[in-house]
Amino acid sequence: MSKPSVLVARKTFDDIVDRLRQRFEVETNDSDTGWSQDELIRRLQGKAGVYIAGGDKIDAKLLDACPDLKAVCTMAVGYNNIDVPACTARGVLVTNAPDVLTETTADFGFALMMATARRITESEHFLRRGEWKQWSVTMFAGADLHGATLGVLGMGRIGAAIARRGHLGFGMPVIYHNRSRLPADQEGPLGAQWVEKDELLQRADHLVIVVPYSASSHHLIGQRELRLMKKTATLTNIARGGVVDDAALAAELQAGTIAAAGLDVFEGEPTVHPALLACTNVVLTPHIASATIATRRAMSDLAVDNLIAALTGGVPPTALNPEVLKR
Ligand code: DGY
Repeated sequence: MSKPSVLVARKTFDDIVDRLRQRFEVETNDSDTGWSQDELIRRLQGKAGVYIAGGDKIDAKLLDACPDLKAVCTMAVGYNNIDVPACTARGVLVTNAPDVLTETTADFGFALMMATARRITESEHFLRRGEWKQWSVTMFAGADLHGATLGVLGMGRIGAAIARRGHLGFGMPVIYHNRSRLPADQEGPLGAQWVEKDELLQRADHLVIVVPYSASSHHLIGQRELRLMKKTATLTNIARGGVVDDAALAAELQAGTIAAAGLDVFEGEPTVHPALLACTNVVLTPHIASATIATRRAMSDLAVDNLIAALTGGVPPTALNPEVLKR
């Protein structure tokens, strides 16, 4: 009997792809550039499974054009690029890669918040330009993290890991907003108090955004929300582009409505709003919050575990629509 065929639509570690080659016919994308949807559809003909990353769009049009597809496995935790209900309706299993990136992403969220509050990149650019001629009492004076109020918007696994770092490591009072409140026994160890969203914005000294992107979180933070924040506050976004209205953020950063922002994700990335590029009080990174070698390997491995299980009658460890398996 011939082996099932799968497509690895994003370049990843060779030894991890070799795990797929032991069981399947494998076609790979050997470049870091994702395929257009038409190209993806063309290459998915006759394929039973696909390994993708966050930028690859799987929608009803693609599913209808690829009737052999049985499993879509992303190596990202976020899956706003996949129409999960459309997959479920067609009996296509979808998996993502949660947990394995939580601590790494929380480390990065904290690093970005610190770099933003302490003006690290802005001062480095100043130094590299040769402009450091003398010491001054207020030169690049920023805001403290220790003892300041940490606001977390979106208290999932990554939000909780950031809250834990703030509470235990930096003595920060932690307030958060989430659609559902954590049980008291989970709030306690994080020192976290649930508040309404507007109160979170008004009270946080450092706001970190960690909500998944969906139609209901589109522009969750725009001009109105930014104007509720303290003039001295910072905002850090490691969630998804589109949760923050980037044009409004740039305008409010330029107007001094808040002190600074740290952004790892952008609307329309990899393009970055030109007004953000022109702001000095913003730290910009290219969507690298989960980017350590160990974690990117773990994410890829988990996607491969899922794909193997899905196509060999096993139980995929992190299925998003496990009901498909019962059919
Ligand atoms: C994720 O896993 O969702 C990260 O944002 C990387 O894409």
